[in-house]
Amino acid sequence: MTDPQLVLTERVQQALGSAFGPEHATEDPLIRPSQFADYQANVALSLAKRLRCAPREVAQAIADHLDTTDVSVEVSGPGFLNLTLRDGWIAEQAARRLLDERIGVPQPAPQTVIVDYSAPNAAKEMHVGHLRTTIVGDTLARTHEHLGNQVIRQNHLGDWGTQFGMLIEHLLDIGEEEALGMLAAGDGNAFYQAARHKFDNDSEFQQRSRRRVPLLQGGDPETLRLWREFIEYSNRYFRKVYRTLGVTLTDEDIAGESMYNPMLPDVCDELERTGVAEISEGALCVFPPGFKGRDDQPLPLIVRKSDGGYGYATTDLAAIRYRVRDLKADRILYVVGATQSLHFQMVFAAARMAGWLHDDVKAEHVQIGSVLGSDGKMFKTRSGESIKLTDLLDEAVVRAEAVIADRGYDPEARRQIARQVGMGAVKYADLSVSHDSEYVFDFDRMLALTGNTGPYLQYATARIRSIFRNGGIEPESITGPITLGHPAERALALQLLGFGSVVAAVAQLSEPHRLCNYLFDLAQAFTSFYESCPVLKAEEESVRQSRLALSALTLRVLLRGLDLLGIEVPERM
Ligand code: ARG
Repeated sequence: MTDPQLVLTERVQQALGSAFGPEHATEDPLIRPSQFADYQANVALSLAKRLRCAPREVAQAIADHLDTTDVSVEVSGPGFLNLTLRDGWIAEQAARRLLDERIGVPQPAPQTVIVDYSAPNAAKEMHVGHLRTTIVGDTLARTHEHLGNQVIRQNHLGDWGTQFGMLIEHLLDIGEEEALGMLAAGDGNAFYQAARHKFDNDSEFQQRSRRRVPLLQGGDPETLRLWREFIEYSNRYFRKVYRTLGVTLTDEDIAGESMYNPMLPDVCDELERTGVAEISEGALCVFPPGFKGRDDQPLPLIVRKSDGGYGYATTDLAAIRYRVRDLKADRILYVVGATQSLHFQMVFAAARMAGWLHDDVKAEHVQIGSVLGSDGKMFKTRSGESIKLTDLLDEAVVRAEAVIADRGYDPEARRQIARQVGMGAVKYADLSVSHDSEYVFDFDRMLALTGNTGPYLQYATARIRSIFRNGGIEPESITGPITLGHPAERALALQLLGFGSVVAAVAQLSEPHRLCNYLFDLAQAFTSFYESCPVLKAEEESVRQSRLALSALTLRVLLRGLDLLGIEVPERM
């Protein structure tokens, strides 16, 4: 454990234990980066209140008991502990990272982590909201995998439900070939709206659609064939979007709503048998405690409607039971729009009542905020139509091409760079704000080469590569040692040591923006270093080797970090 923040946490805890007794040895020392030292620990202030002592005295007592090998301590202000690491320690740890294949990322005891993400609806459009759940979910999946967890991706496609009666009839009306072509091209939304319009205005069509539903549910072969084709052709479109984005979802990860259909009667039986669900006004409902409607009446989670039909909640209950019992999940992440918060709270509560979720299994809704247009409303085209995702991604690439400098690349190489930069920009925009906040989709901002953007980080990484290229040096051949003469070298080395704990925090808190912020700070620390410390032209050979080592380590951390974010880095930019 060489992460500075973790080392200092342990040290301060030991000091707390010896100064105030073992019951204080597990207290959070509240260590934060500081302007006046490397870190500051603020625990003395909160502890003093509880002990009814003067905060400075508490701070002094901690300082007196602190193991100060490699660290110096100073009490300041109302009772802060300023902590500064010895240069030699930082240099030595950084050099060790250079030899560590995992560059400081821990490998805790593996867990089985299910990531439920993307989940577009086969019958409707895939919109920017799904894009964001796809991108955030993919980063969480990659990060857990890198930490050594067993990750099971689940793409909970909306591929079932009564609306398929109407969709199949519309498909027959316009002809299979025409209809399937539309779906594969991503025009599922237009298809859906046309079907809906007919359903609302044409009673003959409405009757046919209704008659189609029991045929589908009863497994009529021709209806099932049409339904399968429908799903297959919309999947072609989803696959294309995943491929363009470099998202790791494959067909193996598809576990759509239809998959749970055969389990639904049994799920209802179990809920009814165990008394978790009860019949209310003809419907089978769970009333999880604590959920109240507007009229202050208990709020039902309907698992079987009075007409015998099942809904979205029933499917999600079946999915939880399956994920815990069959997939043996330790943790289930639902990367889904924030608007579904109440749904998941109630589903989780019901699953807890049923005993499917318990203390050893954590289910979490990773709430995804909406993506807005410049007008502050849900992101749409100017004409108010929803935007087709493939068009949006194509536009990102075209715009990226205008941003990258003209260095005489051949057209093929240029297109490749534009693709990497365009996709990097779109993905980074989704990842760099906290997942539950809304943000405005703005091509100019996400494609900017300065500021906290994907292209800035790609550029910073490509620039370090060019240092090695210009020097004719393989970054992998550099082994240190590292010495820290200049403050910018020290700051860079210290920042490099924080990578492992940031990656662990991303997985623990499901917060990819932490990694974005870290990488942005790292790129800036590198820029300051590079501006004041010549690397290839360093006067002394040992200084040159040390600076090459810092550069090589920065390159590796940036590449690994961007890879966890699913962002490719062009060789040159
Ligand atoms: N298909 C749903 C939608 O588009 C998202 C499904 C999320 N996952 C789940 N287990 N409910 O809103």
